[in-house]
Amino acid sequence: MASLTGRVVIVTGAARGIGQEYCCAFAREGARVVAADVLSCEETVARVRDSGGEVVEVATDVTSAQSTEAMAAAAIERFGQIDILVNNAALYGGMWVGPFDQISEADWDRMMEVNVKGIWLCCKAVVPMMKEQGKGKIINVSSSTIWAGDPFALHYVASKGAVFSLTRALARELAGTGINVNAITPGHTMTEASKTILDPETFERFRRQSVKRQIIKRNEEPADVAGTVLFLASDASDFMSGQTLNIDGGRCHY
Ligand SMILES: NC(=O)c1ccc[n+]([C@@H]2O[C@H](COP(=O)([O-])OP(=O)(O)OC[C@H]3O[C@@H](n4cnc5c(N)ncnc54)[C@H](O)[C@@H]3O)[C@@H](O)[C@H]2O)c1
Repeated sequence: MASLTGRVVIVTGAARGIGQEYCCAFAREGARVVAADVLSCEETVARVRDSGGEVVEVATDVTSAQSTEAMAAAAIERFGQIDILVNNAALYGGMWVGPFDQISEADWDRMMEVNVKGIWLCCKAVVPMMKEQGKGKIINVSSSTIWAGDPFALHYVASKGAVFSLTRALARELAGTGINVNAITPGHTMTEASKTILDPETFERFRRQSVKRQIIKRNEEPADVAGTVLFLASDASDFMSGQTLNIDGGRCHY
């Protein structure tokens, strides 16, 4: 794969889970990492530094334009450029699950605010710098639940469907700028968040069902997702834009 040495990547939702894994994977490839989250990224920073990587933590709330602009400014101040944005932050861990007619309006609105508006604001914050550079990679994290149509999290599934469509439209809108916008749809991945959303029995049933439907018959781990993100961030994918890659062990075909 083409090298990411010296590239500057902002990963949102970098404090834990798959976002933390992206930060470590980018650092291993020689990229300089901006770890952005509402939570402390202390653990992520320690993991990246332990492996000899360069990282800065920027406290960021993706739902606030002021905060996302400050995130981009901090990346530029520290590293002088922004080459890659991974829009990974989402309301996932801790989300309410249950029948569609029992989702509260507040939960619905908050889901859209973090998972959809948050991506729009982060894109708005980094695009000026990427345009100036004549090149940039934006990778939006959707979910394979949009292909499966998994029930009992309608607000979450709908928000991830919006990520799929905004990726296509933004890619077209940025035609000719050198900025590629792509998305990924990870499957049921073994993070703490996945384990805490459902009660242990339901989690285990869903995990088994997922593995059974997959072509690759094992659990999906955060590291399984990182490789595709590195590819979409690298020059190896320069001729791809507006695309969505599914990484779920073959659970869903679309
Ligand atoms: N784990 C899975 O099975 C799975 C499957 C498909 C897609 N995904 C997606 O992958 C991503 C990571 O999943 P995960 O399992 O690591 O979940 P997670 O809940 O552990 O990670 C989400 C991160 O986003 C951060 N975040 C939430 N609101 C924020 C805000 N307003 N501003 C900044 N940061 C905020 C959280 O603090 C957290 O660190 C999410 O987009 C999730 O929807 C996960």
